[in-house]
Amino acid sequence: MAHVKAKHTLHSGIFHPLLRKWQSPNVEITANNLMYPIFVLDDPNGKDPIDSMPGVHRYGINQIKILLEPLIAKGLQSILLFGVPNKLEKDKNATNADSMKNPIIQVLPLLRKEFPHLIIACDVCLCAYTEHGHCGILNSDGTINNKESIKRIAEVAVAYAKTGAQIIAPSDMMDGRIGSIKSGLAAAGLSNKVAVLSYAVKFASGFYGPFRDASKSAPQFGDRQCYQLPPGSNGLAARAAARDVEEGADMLMVKPGLAYLDVVRHTKDAHPEYPMFVYQVSGEYAMLYHGAQNGAINLESVLKEVLLSMRRAGADCIITYFTPLILDMLKPKC
Ligand code: PBG
Ligand code: ZN
Repeated sequence: MAHVKAKHTLHSGIFHPLLRKWQSPNVEITANNLMYPIFVLDDPNGKDPIDSMPGVHRYGINQIKILLEPLIAKGLQSILLFGVPNKLEKDKNATNADSMKNPIIQVLPLLRKEFPHLIIACDVCLCAYTEHGHCGILNSDGTINNKESIKRIAEVAVAYAKTGAQIIAPSDMMDGRIGSIKSGLAAAGLSNKVAVLSYAVKFASGFYGPFRDASKSAPQFGDRQCYQLPPGSNGLAARAAARDVEEGADMLMVKPGLAYLDVVRHTKDAHPEYPMFVYQVSGEYAMLYHGAQNGAINLESVLKEVLLSMRRAGADCIITYFTPLILDMLKPKC
């Protein structure tokens, strides 16, 4: 018999769906791998469409139960809350970030009571509540006052934690905020009840454009390049993650997602002990939405591919506005 050289055939390993699954270990997408961001409006009965993010709305506290009930029935496990002050006054100290008028402070007890099994993360930042729209407290010359910023950010974090947040997710990018928040939580006796998910590696990105419209948090002057990371900075990305680990972060995030998957892989490899989150941000949502809307791509199949790429890069959890659609895609087809 003639000797047939066939050692490295690939087709032989992928001719059946189950074989194909075995070739793709640890990249499955389940509800456990998803976190759903929600914009909470200061108008209790409001439900506002967001022009820059078609299909996404801002919800008043009385609307959120209606939003969540069917999603939880489909397996939703965790959400990430953003406060959207529409009418609330903004000032230098971001007073309304944790006042009784704040929509997050108001909605947390309701959600904890209504959905006791849901994990609730809260974004913590000052930009939606400061009159200048920057993420920290400013000096009179317009630069960041880091010391005052991290003090205030920790105060807001503790207020959310006391009101029921189980995960605190600071997105401000001030130096030393993780340590400041961790010691604030410890002082409040909440160390064992609240996790800190650090937006450790957050780049100064054009992909946040639609979000700033959604959360009414665009800076009134300048930009965020002096506190968010330069998009090309591998070294700072690694140092940022290591620093936040050192300060006691429980979980790490890279943001945005698709354009930074090399950084996701690097961060996961450098800190394999930490759950790795990736944020598919507003601009990534809009890009896929409009690409599909205009007939260039098929939304569900391309979305699935993008989610797989994030899992392959090392993400344990993906924060995505597409969560409701993905939960539907996960339902067994009959
Ligand atoms: C605010 C914040 C931003 C995002 C999350 N928290 C915007 C920014 O930093 O400018 C972006 C989320 C998205 O684009 O979906 N600090
Ligand atoms: Zn901010």
